[in-house]
Amino acid sequence: MEILIRPDAQAATDLVVQLLNARLVAKPDLVLGCATGRTMERLYGQLARLHAETGLDFSQCKTFNLDEYVGLAADDPRSYHAYMHEHLFRHVNIQPENTFLPAGMAADLKQEATDYEGRIAAVGGIDVQLLGLGESGHIGFNEPLSSLMSRTRDKALTPTTRAQNAEFFDNNPDNVPPRALTMGVGTILEAREIIMLVLGANKANMLANATEGPITAMISATALQLHANCKVIVDEAAAEKLQGQAYYRWIFDNEPEWQAFHHDNTQ
Ligand code: GLP
Repeated sequence: MEILIRPDAQAATDLVVQLLNARLVAKPDLVLGCATGRTMERLYGQLARLHAETGLDFSQCKTFNLDEYVGLAADDPRSYHAYMHEHLFRHVNIQPENTFLPAGMAADLKQEATDYEGRIAAVGGIDVQLLGLGESGHIGFNEPLSSLMSRTRDKALTPTTRAQNAEFFDNNPDNVPPRALTMGVGTILEAREIIMLVLGANKANMLANATEGPITAMISATALQLHANCKVIVDEAAAEKLQGQAYYRWIFDNEPEWQAFHHDNTQ
């Protein structure tokens, strides 16, 4: 795992955008694992801007989202289907048939979960998985005690998570669907590369637990410590509680692989 600390949310997001730009240019048929949440909104906005300004090509790209609420139809504005359409898909030249999310309305959730794993396998797996960090320490909707080997399945959401996402449901946690279909921790760990973006002071404690604490099923993000190619890109506010800050800064400032990223060329 590498932790890269950037001065603010914009700079951290820009670094992720630069990496994704490079990955897409190198492999136009990239299989991209997508996350949702507020953290990703600016990121998708930047990707849309790159598409408009530089012609960044999504025509062969396939996307697989981490999760979807159970019981929300794809055209429900609060669904992650709608989120992806609103924040990314409608702004770029991605083919609708190349965008995949779990079907929250599926009559048989277990079957849908199995089928979703099959769709990922059928395209050869995920090249780059984007992640945010939930306040309960989850990745996707892998709530505390999710097996570190779990696969795509339906999962009950914690009160913390429902409160965190209440903003999109009339500010009432009770309106947040109690269950979601989510890729498992084991599914996520099979991605060839993982990039997690964490912003803001409210994530500082959980980020430190997730990256520097012991691996535990209570915090599914700690499983990322097992992944051989995982970058965690954060702003100063989120980095505040990290014990190894000086070392992480040294890595970005000195390691050859990061030299090309010192000057943001996405502007
Ligand atoms: C939801 C999603 C997660 C996401 C998290 C963070 O719970 N299921 O994939 O990482 O939100 O959200 P935010 O970026 O709004 O803090």
